[in-house]
Amino acid sequence: MPDFENKVAFITGAAHGQGRAVALSLAREGADIVAFDVAKKIEYPSYAFGSNEELQSLKEEIEALGRKVLIAVGDVRDDESVTAAVNEAIAAFGKIDILFNNAGICAYAEVDKMTDEEWDAMIDINLKGPFIVTRRVVPHMKDAKSGVIINNSSVMGMRGGRRLSHYVASKWGLTGLTKAWAIELAPYNIRVVSIHPTGVNTPMNDGLAEMEGATPLEIAERSAGNLLPVPWIESEDVAHLVNYLASDKARYATGSQFVLDAGLLSV
Ligand SMILES: NC(=O)c1ccc[n+]([C@@H]2O[C@H](COP(=O)([O-])OP(=O)(O)OC[C@H]3O[C@@H](n4cnc5c(N)ncnc54)[C@H](O)[C@@H]3O)[C@@H](O)[C@H]2O)c1
Repeated sequence: MPDFENKVAFITGAAHGQGRAVALSLAREGADIVAFDVAKKIEYPSYAFGSNEELQSLKEEIEALGRKVLIAVGDVRDDESVTAAVNEAIAAFGKIDILFNNAGICAYAEVDKMTDEEWDAMIDINLKGPFIVTRRVVPHMKDAKSGVIINNSSVMGMRGGRRLSHYVASKWGLTGLTKAWAIELAPYNIRVVSIHPTGVNTPMNDGLAEMEGATPLEIAERSAGNLLPVPWIESEDVAHLVNYLASDKARYATGSQFVLDAGLLSV
């Protein structure tokens, strides 16, 4: 039997990149999917966000796998749209078994040049966003006395990064939330883990490339720092890890950090 038969996964930032790969991968293993995404360009940063067209094509791909899908357009910063999406998911599927807190942004600025707006957007989306979503999903997991929450942090949630202080702060914050929620939610049989990928080949890399006047691949080749000879990993690599952590095979994993870094953090 597939790992996720009769399971429901709520995925933020599902339109493209890692969220999309995880949605498809969980659906392939039997899960029904709630695909949540802002699906429009927001004020910061400058690279492409997900789109309605991408959400629509994701829906078609998941349905072609024989699974059900609910598309929910909203912003993880906006409690109203998050609450509406969670309520719709419960009305459609009756439960949420897996939450992948994945939506996030990345941008670069030196600390003395960073504006309040840049700081606030980063923290609001990458740190407060997962709080807002988790706050609305957890009551349903508590009722079910079961659930898995997977937070997409980064290697930057375990180390520092140049011109990335706001991003690094948000990702270390998410690592901390993972530990705090794991303690609170273990009595309800809800597991909480974080993942820490090295650079992943997604549209998120376009921002720095644009700033530096190079292609994303050139930037990654120049600065990746992975031990294995790869500039970056693929979203599907992340999806394999998420599938494992979301499954009962990882039934005793909670509060922990799962690194997928091609060796980066060993240096
Ligand atoms: N790409 C990398 O190198 C990398 C490495 C490690 C960790 N991460 C983290 O992985 C996660 C996914 O990143 P990705 O590489 O797939 O990025 P991406 O930019 O390719 O995709 C992010 C998705 O999130 C959506 N999104 C952004 N802000 C949102 C908001 N406020 N509300 C709802 N949806 C929103 C976007 O529309 C997009 O579809 C992020 O949290 C990121 O910080 C990325």
